[in-house]
Amino acid sequence: MKIAVLGGTGHIGIGLSLRLAIAGYDVIVGSRKVEKAQQKAEEYKACLEGRDAKGKITGESNEKAAKLADVSILTIPFKYAYETAESLKDCLVGKIVVSPVVPMEKRGKFLLYSPPPEGSAAEKIASILSESKVVSAFQTIPAEKFANLDASFDWDVPVCGDDEDSKKIVLEIVNKIDGLRGLDAGPLIVSRLVESVTPLLINVAIRNKEKDLSLKFV
Ligand SMILES: NC(=O)c1ccc[n+]([C@@H]2O[C@H](COP(=O)([O-])OP(=O)(O)OC[C@H]3O[C@@H](n4cnc5c(N)ncnc54)[C@H](OP(=O)(O)O)[C@@H]3O)[C@@H](O)[C@H]2O)c1
Repeated sequence: MKIAVLGGTGHIGIGLSLRLAIAGYDVIVGSRKVEKAQQKAEEYKACLEGRDAKGKITGESNEKAAKLADVSILTIPFKYAYETAESLKDCLVGKIVVSPVVPMEKRGKFLLYSPPPEGSAAEKIASILSESKVVSAFQTIPAEKFANLDASFDWDVPVCGDDEDSKKIVLEIVNKIDGLRGLDAGPLIVSRLVESVTPLLINVAIRNKEKDLSLKFV
């Protein structure tokens, strides 16, 4: 299976690309600039040297990556994720699109969840990509630790979606990544609950001098 990490040149894209390749998926790193995508793909491949990665990593423009992939993960900051989804709409028809997007804003010293009128980023993306199957996941994964291949962790990943078959496929993908446990959290509307946890994790981390907090259901 080919997975595109659109905007995969950024923070969360690093860990996703590396760990999906280790899990055996062929990863296409997407970028607005094909040269940047190819350079990042080379860097990621270098990180995987000496590790048993079964999947390949290549770099393409976001458009080409979206066209080539079976599943695309939209790792774009929320301010630009919606217009990016709009611009890739035709390339993503009939395909699974994963939203890890979390809309947040600063209020004084704190981060607050700032969802769009649709209720959550995932629901807004689903309204734009009306002919794709949108599933949400990965919102509560801290990028820095996730990108460190020597780090170990035990995190839960709630997965939300309206199309049960697509959700099952995304759950399988999550569960193939070492240290992650995918959990069915319900339909896409539940994404608003999951997305809202991310600013909570960051606020608690900052106030308590913690790092890399994530989610575990116990
Ligand atoms: N960072 C985290 O810990 C974390 C954890 C969970 C979920 N998330 C979510 O994942 C998404 C990505 O987060 P991130 O921290 O990885 O973001 P990021 O590093 O700031 O940006 C990711 C990529 O987005 C692309 N990009 C930047 N501006 C753009 C624009 N105007 N139009 C289109 N593409 C643009 C860039 O790729 P190119 O320049 O190569 O095109 C960039 O490398 C966000 O929605 C965030 O809420 C982040």
